[in-house]
Amino acid sequence: MSPRAKDERAEAPQAGRGPRCRTGIEGLDKVLNGGIPVGNNVLLTGACGTGKTTLAAEFLASGASAGEPGLYLAVTEQSQKVLDNLSGYEFFDGKLVDEKKLSFVDLHAVLEKLQLDKVEYSHSDVPGLIGAVTDAVKQAGAKRVVIDSVTGVLLHLRTRELIRDFMSKLCRRLTEAGATTLLVSEIAPDEKRYSSFGVEEAVADGIVVLGNVEQRGYLLRTLHVVKMRGTPHSRSRYVIDLTPYGIIIVPLLRSSTGGPA
Ligand SMILES: Nc1ncnc2c1ncn2[C@@H]1O[C@H](COP(=O)(O)OP(=O)(O)OP(=O)(O)O)[C@@H](O)[C@H]1O
Ligand SMILES: [Mg+2]
Repeated sequence: MSPRAKDERAEAPQAGRGPRCRTGIEGLDKVLNGGIPVGNNVLLTGACGTGKTTLAAEFLASGASAGEPGLYLAVTEQSQKVLDNLSGYEFFDGKLVDEKKLSFVDLHAVLEKLQLDKVEYSHSDVPGLIGAVTDAVKQAGAKRVVIDSVTGVLLHLRTRELIRDFMSKLCRRLTEAGATTLLVSEIAPDEKRYSSFGVEEAVADGIVVLGNVEQRGYLLRTLHVVKMRGTPHSRSRYVIDLTPYGIIIVPLLRSSTGGPA
């Protein structure tokens, strides 16, 4: 058998032909062989300023333009500030918000209304927290969800057991609701793990890492997919460019003559 035929046979059973949620970021959909498998919970992880919020917003805007309502749950940054920053991007149309195809909600405000806004949560608070998120998803009729950031929620849970319990239940409920979710995760630039607590990366169906690499005096932004259950995918590292039109992805080697990201 030729090496090529062997490769094709090896790939066939795991080709992952289930429905896909196209991110709308062309290069990323190619890397993922068509997009994120519908219902997956994906950890979008990276240090500050690596483009997490921008990528997540383009994912939501692209879905909303194609008729899939989206929900952005703001945790770390106020939703109005995020909206103001997004108005500088061509891919973001404020009409999508006016027409309720995109909802921007502050999680703290929701929790405050439910008298669930606490500094520290215990096991007995987990159902209430998850209920608040899933109710917001239902209210928005969302098929795409972004929690920015999930780290901001997990910081209020004191033990690894509690974090695991919360993460597993949250992911299960979001999948049951038919949503494809990006869970934004904040890590330090020198962090060796993909998440702050080491639990998130094990529970999530997928991990997309954004980072920085210095090249010829420029700090380039990078992206690579570490895992994505339900689809074969490239594990190469790519350079991303945050342009006014959205995120552009190029292989790291091809960018070696390029300028700033
Ligand atoms: N209109 C724009 N066009 C192109 N690039 C922009 C524009 N607005 C902001 N940027 C770039 O985007 C960067 C911020 O990206 P983003 O907010 O998505 O990162 P982040 O990973 O979410 O950061 P944080 O960890 O602080 O939440 C800015 O530092 C700036 O370089
Ligand atoms: Mg951000």
